[in-house]
Amino acid sequence: MEVIIQPSPEDCAALGARIIGKLVKQKADTVLGLATGSTPLPLYGELVRLHRDGKLDFSGVTSFNLDEYIGLSGDHPCSYRYFMQQELFKDINIESERTYVPDGLADDIARHCLAYEQAILDCGGIDLQILGLGTDGHIGFNEPGSSLGSRTRIKTLTGKTREDNARFFDTIDEVPRHCITMGVATIMDCRQILLFAFGEGKAEIIAKAIEGPVSAMVPASILQMHPDVTIFIDEAAASSLKNRDYYREVFEGKPSWQSI
Ligand code: F6R
Repeated sequence: MEVIIQPSPEDCAALGARIIGKLVKQKADTVLGLATGSTPLPLYGELVRLHRDGKLDFSGVTSFNLDEYIGLSGDHPCSYRYFMQQELFKDINIESERTYVPDGLADDIARHCLAYEQAILDCGGIDLQILGLGTDGHIGFNEPGSSLGSRTRIKTLTGKTREDNARFFDTIDEVPRHCITMGVATIMDCRQILLFAFGEGKAEIIAKAIEGPVSAMVPASILQMHPDVTIFIDEAAASSLKNRDYYREVFEGKPSWQSI
């Protein structure tokens, strides 16, 4: 696990976009795993900029989103399908039939979840997964207590997550109680993972996820067991890390062959 502390979310986004850019250039049919929420917005802005400048071609890329609210259609302004369309897909040249987001209106949710897992396998697995971090430690919508071996399935959102996400809705009562999310094991199968977290509000949970014990009560802590994870955080999100000076030293002393 590599922890990269940068002055701002924009600096983190620039580095993350460079990693994605390199990958897509090497492998035109890259399979990306995508997240929603506030955290990936600077990254998506940077990917759009690179595409507009002619430096990034998404025509061969496939994407799988982590999660979706149950009960919201893809054209609902709070659905994650809608979010992805507005914040990324409409501004890059990704083929819409290669953008997968769980269907929050699926009739048979269990079957839909199995099909989602199968679609990931059929595409050869996810090369690189983008993650944000919930203040309760969730990745995707794998809330505390989620099985570390879980696969795509229905989950009930915690009160804390519904409170955190109420800012996107008119009232908290409109925040759905259920979602479909890739499982913890689905995420762990991704070949490379980039997790982003910004602001003081994420400092405590970042410290638990990176430096605390691995526990289903902090689902993000399982990333300690993944062979290729990079955590991008700003100074505020890094403020509770015990080893933050060491992480800075490692990044500053990176040999050139390891540079991003
Ligand atoms: C969203 C997702 C969630 C968010 C997390 C952080 O697709 O999977 O895990 O990444 O809730 O949300 P923000 O970025 O809004 O703080």
